[in-house]
Amino acid sequence: MMKPLLCLVVAAGLTAYGTFGEKDFISSNTGFAQRQLKHMLKETESRDSLAFPRTTDKAGKMTTTSMYDWTPGFFPGSLWLAYEQTKDPAWEQQAIRWTEKLAPLQHFTQHHDLGFMLYCSYGNAYRLTGNKAYRDILIQGARSLSTRYNPVTRSIKSWNVFKSWHGEQQYRYPVIIDNLMNLELLFFASKETGDTSFRHIAVSHAETAMHKQIRPDYSSYHVVCYDTTDGKVLARETAQGYADNSTWSRGQAWGIYGFTMIYRETKDPRFLKTAVGMADWYLNNKNLPKDKVPYWDFNAVEKGYMPGIRSNALNVKTKHRDASAAAIVASALFELSGYVGARKAAQYRQAAIATLHSLGSPAYRAQEGANGNFVLMHSVGSIPHNNEIDVPLVYADYYFMEALQRYRVSLN
Ligand code: GLY
Repeated sequence: MMKPLLCLVVAAGLTAYGTFGEKDFISSNTGFAQRQLKHMLKETESRDSLAFPRTTDKAGKMTTTSMYDWTPGFFPGSLWLAYEQTKDPAWEQQAIRWTEKLAPLQHFTQHHDLGFMLYCSYGNAYRLTGNKAYRDILIQGARSLSTRYNPVTRSIKSWNVFKSWHGEQQYRYPVIIDNLMNLELLFFASKETGDTSFRHIAVSHAETAMHKQIRPDYSSYHVVCYDTTDGKVLARETAQGYADNSTWSRGQAWGIYGFTMIYRETKDPRFLKTAVGMADWYLNNKNLPKDKVPYWDFNAVEKGYMPGIRSNALNVKTKHRDASAAAIVASALFELSGYVGARKAAQYRQAAIATLHSLGSPAYRAQEGANGNFVLMHSVGSIPHNNEIDVPLVYADYYFMEALQRYRVSLN
């Protein structure tokens, strides 16, 4: 039997890392992230004012997207996290400036990513300032997102069209696992307005994903395509993963984070069971490297898994890591550890902390001023599309900063 003090330490998930050293670890990483953000802000001054940081080009220079891509919310979101970590009004000023550029998105309905786009920007803005104008934009954004819901498929349509990697087949009602993340905006709008239709859409979508997108062993399909006449599944394929039957690491990460958040909002034990099942599948997988930063797909170049004929995954034999998936999972595990018994909580915390230590090491954390001023190296956008392979990604940094913040709060 362990001595009581040791038991407490194990339960807190701090077996390998002492609390005092950990506060330094967190401060040194948040401080580094803030310095990189400052360099990035400087770099943005020489760019179009509506260009949002995303990744780097081959020369290592920052590249950007328009606000209508899925990632514009992460840069303002990171600025808000820097403000939360420092309470420095200079960060607040920059965060407000970059957030308010996204106001037109409240009326955007062309894809499903409004949750990422608005909740990481305006959601953090409202949480940290209480400015009611931000609340109203979030609610209008939730209305826009709701227009993509169909009661026959009981899902929100992710993209307007998905072309299979296997040939010319196109699907008009694709739903991707990432979509779970966008539901947080709907839960928020329901609580703020008292309008239960937002919540109904979020819960229906989550139930459908739980039944149709998650395999019996709790691994996940990336894309499920529906028939809008009867709601039946037409195809289960991948867009960004290695093969239809493989498990794309960031997809699994979105599922772990998504179902954890959905459990927080519903307290429905089915969603907790799904989050735990997906987390256990990920953490116990023989293909998860020792440093807990996954390969871009759990089944990349494995026997029994075959990319479609049009997929660039056929050409990539290197098993690239995806630091973005690791950062998302680390952040999710801090929250999930609050919803499970002591033993599992300790296990999840320990895994989250170990992941952060890997990401904060020179193997993944860039040198100051390098890496296009992003924090983390070695993420993957989409190998099948031959796009963003072994690069920094703005969302890897956002979830790294969020995970560090969650870790810090958990030590207080
Ligand atoms: N939501 C798109 C991605 O994770 O790449």
